[in-house]
Amino acid sequence: MTEKPRILVTRRWPDAVERVLAERFDASFNTSDVAMDAKTLAEALQSFDAVLPTVSDRLPASLFEEGDLRTRILGNFGVGYNHIDIAAAEHYGITVTNTPGVLTDCTADIAMALLLSVARRTGEGEREVRAGQWTGWRPTHMIGTKVTGKTLGIIGFGRIGKAMAKRCHFGFDMDVVFYNRSKIDPVEAARYGARQLETVEDVLAAADFVSLHCPGGGENRHLINAQRLAVMKPGAYLINTARGDVVDEAALIHALETGIIRGAGLDVFEAEPNVPERLRALENVVLLPHLGSATEETRTAMGMKVVDNITAFFEGREPPDRVA
Ligand code: DGY
Repeated sequence: MTEKPRILVTRRWPDAVERVLAERFDASFNTSDVAMDAKTLAEALQSFDAVLPTVSDRLPASLFEEGDLRTRILGNFGVGYNHIDIAAAEHYGITVTNTPGVLTDCTADIAMALLLSVARRTGEGEREVRAGQWTGWRPTHMIGTKVTGKTLGIIGFGRIGKAMAKRCHFGFDMDVVFYNRSKIDPVEAARYGARQLETVEDVLAAADFVSLHCPGGGENRHLINAQRLAVMKPGAYLINTARGDVVDEAALIHALETGIIRGAGLDVFEAEPNVPERLRALENVVLLPHLGSATEETRTAMGMKVVDNITAFFEGREPPDRVA
């Protein structure tokens, strides 16, 4: 690199990573940490060599059409990139990278936390204690659902789906079935104590807990809709740590209100950070503010992956995590 590339970091990142970026690049940081609007992002594409967005930035095709583009790489901070119009980026010759691998365990941990939390009603229990409304132990108080030995259904058997299977099968003696678009070698699946079923419906019908681990956007939008929720057991729970748009949120709210399913644990929502009032009013849901990868170790590792990707790109090497 002769002259340092101009880069824009759209949100605050862990200090250690921002320090490396500042040393290596002509870096601009978003010190206010307020999500950037479309106009600011469009201008950024015209004035920076690299833009480093997150899931809170929207980069639809229209943003790329606004003027002369200077940006040559979008180094996304996150494994999911359905907030970026990949076809448009490719059309304008912009490379896109993501951060796979380093958030697998922490995201599976949050899925496990949601599963346990909603089944054992820990959110409700905590609210009761904090409100000073607990009247003492009694045999019929806040009865939940046993987790150990139940059946887990996974939709999307990638890294995070496998990590979830491992936790549930080896930690909680659960029978694990999954749906995955491509065929997984049964020997590989067995390493995670899991077996593949033919259709999404087969998994939904078999599972006591359904955990979503597929990408968002495209044909996965509203993969879980009213028809599919109706296939789930009435006593079953839905866990979503993937992307909000994988679930038809209105249909889910109806299913939760009317007992079509028993409960849900959600880390992601259709229109983040807006969570519908009707969902927030329900006791049979556990709601988290998109915390899947939110640990010091993982967020730093994600940032360092972006550093590696854009460094490779500007040195003329293939970025390790290119998606477009
Ligand atoms: C991811 O990595 O996709 C997380 O959901 C944050 O974007």
